[in-house]
Amino acid sequence: MTLRCELAAKAPLIGPSLLACDFANLEREVRAVEEAGARILHLDIMDGHFVPNLSFGLPVVEAVRRVTKLPLDVHLMISNPAKYIQAFRRAGADLLTFHIEAVDDASAILGEVHNVGALAGIAISPPTPIESIQPHLTECDLVLVMTVMPGFGGQAFQPKTIDKVRWVRRHRSKGTLISVDGGINGETITPCAAAGADLFVVGTGLFGYPDYRQRFAYLRDLAEASVAERV
Ligand code: DX5
Ligand code: ZN
Repeated sequence: MTLRCELAAKAPLIGPSLLACDFANLEREVRAVEEAGARILHLDIMDGHFVPNLSFGLPVVEAVRRVTKLPLDVHLMISNPAKYIQAFRRAGADLLTFHIEAVDDASAILGEVHNVGALAGIAISPPTPIESIQPHLTECDLVLVMTVMPGFGGQAFQPKTIDKVRWVRRHRSKGTLISVDGGINGETITPCAAAGADLFVVGTGLFGYPDYRQRFAYLRDLAEASVAERV
């Protein structure tokens, strides 16, 4: 089974965002969320240029790759993502998502990601009209609807972005995953799941709690309940 089919079959998925983890204990944190039930990990790359913040880069992706077999969902919040696609693939990324706002030719970059053997995603920030991704929907393995402005963890969810999830659900090609990222917690996960999201990226809403297993199960149950009602 291809990774894309595998992920679609496992949805709804909670994707822990390592940005909120304890980096002094990276290996322990990765193992802890894996044991809590994670089937994918989300890694946020920020360049201090496309977004006004810096996070981490290739060596951290490589380090995570060494301690887990889980698929790595790498979210590139960087200018000129094309320049780094091969390097992130080599570092261990399974899924590479870049921002529509950061590129002139999204189709070319989706092609490059596929050429290096990774799944390709397009992310879209809250102010950008969702129709801008329409020409690329058949080439995307994932659409990441940002539910906060990219750049920082721990921000408040922007409810208006739920309309975008609904739009992608209506227009997507079969098998394209819909991801939501930013401010996902016990309150916001339900409307996102009802609107059609498959993958829920959670940073502080998971790592901010002492018992990851309990919190993970709580969030997954909420998503599953909402998805069951949707069908
Ligand atoms: C924000 C990142 C997110 C971030 C989410 O720019 O893309 O993945 O880690 O963090 P929370 O869940 O705390 O909003
Ligand atoms: Zn992210």
